[in-house]
Amino acid sequence: MTTAVPVPLGARSYDILIGDGLLDEAGSRIAPLLSRRFVVVIADATVIGAHGARLTRALDHAGIASSIIEIPPGEPSKSFASLERLCEALLDAGVERSDLVIAFGGGVIGDLTGFAASIIKRGCRFAQIPTTLLAQVDSSVGGKTAINARAGKNLVGAFHQPSLVLADVATLATLPARELRSGYAEIVKYAALGDAPFFDWLDANGGALLGGDRSAQVHAVAHSCAMKGRIVAADERETGERALLNLGHTFGHALEAAFGFSDRLTHGEAVAAGMGLAFDYSAARGYCQEGEAARLKSHLRSKGLPAGIRDIKGASEFSARALRDLMMRDKKNEGGRLTLILARKIGEAFVEKGADADAVEQFLRQQGAA
Ligand SMILES: NC(=O)c1ccc[n+]([C@@H]2O[C@H](COP(=O)([O-])OP(=O)(O)OC[C@H]3O[C@@H](n4cnc5c(N)ncnc54)[C@H](O)[C@@H]3O)[C@@H](O)[C@H]2O)c1
Ligand SMILES: [Zn+2]
Repeated sequence: MTTAVPVPLGARSYDILIGDGLLDEAGSRIAPLLSRRFVVVIADATVIGAHGARLTRALDHAGIASSIIEIPPGEPSKSFASLERLCEALLDAGVERSDLVIAFGGGVIGDLTGFAASIIKRGCRFAQIPTTLLAQVDSSVGGKTAINARAGKNLVGAFHQPSLVLADVATLATLPARELRSGYAEIVKYAALGDAPFFDWLDANGGALLGGDRSAQVHAVAHSCAMKGRIVAADERETGERALLNLGHTFGHALEAAFGFSDRLTHGEAVAAGMGLAFDYSAARGYCQEGEAARLKSHLRSKGLPAGIRDIKGASEFSARALRDLMMRDKKNEGGRLTLILARKIGEAFVEKGADADAVEQFLRQQGAA
């Protein structure tokens, strides 16, 4: 069964299709979008090895010729150097503006490919076939594309919406458990920021989802995409509500940065810990009840995710001052003052502008930072 989630963005509207085994239908789903029966697929060796043959076969069946450009796996591929190589390869492959290129992989491939598509011949179309849970519920939806710069992550990029997103939960079967959990943290984020009944559902079904239950995965991915799609449609360029999607990310990014974006802490783990901190901070400030924060943290921990600084090996060595300084670099800040996403309860987050950095630093110290 395939679930379709429309993202209504006027002329740039598109569908997110979510299903179990959808990769086998990629050709017939993509064919109607093509001006000629030719696509270029961008993927890394891991994804090509695990799922490339199925995609190529599906495209073949629909009479679509394809060529594959292979990108090395990992975050370092979101660089100027890889962007240059990818653009040259796309041009060598003869990509025209009306052609469609396919990002087949996790968020790294999606962000890099989306950005390349936004600038090739001043913008060609692209489709996302996300193969990590994080990419299926988050990075493939919303049209943010970027590479990293010396000054920080995702600082060079563009808004460029895909023409189609095809999320096949069957591809998640080969994903390492830690990656699956990391994507799950973003699912919890949607529930925590605006959907209390979904949080109840996750309490009941999150374990099955992480255990590989495909129908639970389809439900959660579709639900998450619908929520992100709705928020993006209301606020495509993040001038308001879209900022709520950063719940857990201001604290989380500081932790990720403190670990040098190494694999000692994945993005999802950082977001999980960041959400725990955001709820604890909200409780400390009297915005939300302790019990709400406790419930969120116990859910995260029960799924093997950290919910605070003390849950992360080595994190207590970072000083509260250093974490605060890292938080001050957040893109959401305005006029040198901190913007935080806080919560009134599970299912209700809000934006606090001009948060008191001294209070945050003190709070981080209480939470276990040095
Ligand atoms: N554009 C956005 O809105 C947005 C949102 C969130 C995150 N991001 C970006 O996404 C990136 C992280 O994405 P990610 O977590 O998907 O990481 P990733 O793309 O690095 O993928 C993680 C690893 O999993 C492997 N992999 C992918 N699919 C697999 C599968 N089905 N089976 C086995 N292995 C598989 C990859 O080869 C890679 O080694 C970051 O760069 C982040 O900045 C972007
Ligand atoms: Zn995130």
